[in-house]
Amino acid sequence: MMHAEQTPMEAATPLLQVQGIRKLYAPGKGVDGVDFDLYPGEILGIVGESGSGKTTLLGCLSGSLIPDQGRVFYRNRDDRKLDLYNISESDRRVLLRTEWGVVHQHARDGLRMSVSAGANIGERLMAVGGRHYGQLREAGENWLREVEIDPVRINDTPRTFSGGMQQRLQIARNLVTGPRLIFMDEPTGGLDVSVQARLLDLLRNLVMDLGLAVVLVTHDLAVARLLSHRLMVMKQGKVVEHGLTDQVLDDPRHPYTQLLVSSVLGN
Ligand SMILES: Nc1ncnc2c1ncn2[C@@H]1O[C@H](COP(=O)(O)OP(=O)(O)O)[C@@H](O)[C@H]1O
Ligand SMILES: [Mg+2]
Repeated sequence: MMHAEQTPMEAATPLLQVQGIRKLYAPGKGVDGVDFDLYPGEILGIVGESGSGKTTLLGCLSGSLIPDQGRVFYRNRDDRKLDLYNISESDRRVLLRTEWGVVHQHARDGLRMSVSAGANIGERLMAVGGRHYGQLREAGENWLREVEIDPVRINDTPRTFSGGMQQRLQIARNLVTGPRLIFMDEPTGGLDVSVQARLLDLLRNLVMDLGLAVVLVTHDLAVARLLSHRLMVMKQGKVVEHGLTDQVLDDPRHPYTQLLVSSVLGN
């Protein structure tokens, strides 16, 4: 599933449809007119320099920011098409707990730092009805193993974990409920380069094994290249280029993408 040409995009029904999203804090600041479809199992990278509107866009897609304009449709497990901003706040919360996951750049925004690693994972399961202590515990241990954390750490709080481990725990907490769509904002952001490589490898394997659809925001083109089927390049809130990852990075059309690829722009 790693290569875009292997996903039957044309044939499938979109999982997420994004139409004319606008959320402006000031002219050129925010997001202005973003459209795309995301298909099951597809990984879309959103790249652009700092301040280009990536995080604002992700907030609008994942229901944490209400856009000024535009619509987002999501096709759920029951094959119902949900209009993200026309369903109730509580229905949006249910989506976030069940079918979606959000991996924040800073683990502290996605974890409860003062409860144990096992509770961080079990809590998400409880939110979808998991009650049996033994099963919650077992799921916790299994998911710690999946993200390469020694299960003996299950009673330790994330505070005692390294940055890389915290990020892996955040991923486990998201994946335990079997989501179909994950939003990630600079998942390897504040980590050391060697730690980044390991996390990326893990992410790539998990996402492929589980067939997850992902919207991945990053300013790091190497991360985008490794994980994404398609890339959207943003500049000052607008999408300036959109295409298959290899095409965009190897043969960029827009002058801004050419600058990004040649690393002339600072991040
Ligand atoms: N809550 C806010 N209030 C005012 N301006 C904001 C707010 N959030 C973001 N911005 C501005 O919107 C622009 C896009 O920000 P952001 O989406 O965080 O970009 P990126 O994630 O690409 O770095 C930036 O100029 C930023 O300063
Ligand atoms: Mg950002």
